[in-house]
Amino acid sequence: MAEHPDLKPIFPDDLTPVADKQYLFLTQFFGGPPLYTEKYGHPMMRARHMPFPVTPKRAEAWLGCMRRALEEVIPSQEMREVILERLSGPAHFFVNTPDDE
Ligand code: HEM
Repeated sequence: MAEHPDLKPIFPDDLTPVADKQYLFLTQFFGGPPLYTEKYGHPMMRARHMPFPVTPKRAEAWLGCMRRALEEVIPSQEMREVILERLSGPAHFFVNTPDDE
């Protein structure tokens, strides 16, 4: 994410706080305890992305980074595909800006 030309401009230089929140959110998104909600309230994830221009191109870039991250930690291709499939819907749903803006 920190290196991707399409994503770098909309993320802070220090990704640590975002990574921490991502851990809390994905834990509950994939059926674990509601860690994100306990700390930050209702996820309302599309609304939380509204301050940032999420374009179709950035949605694909985000999913591409997630794919690479999963390849590093999850040996099962089948499991990786299940996870990416579950994230693909939300990623495209968060798009709030056309590509040419
Ligand atoms: C579609 C492409 C996406 C882009 C371009 C994107 C971009 C961003 C940006 C810029 C932030 C805020 C960083 C900051 O705090 O300064 C953020 C926060 C976050 N994103 Fe995404 N995101 C995308 C998709 C997703 C998806 C699919 C998920 C999970 C299903 C997700 C989960 C989160 C979470 C949990 C946060 C932290 C929210 C908070 O502040 O509490 N994002 N994202």
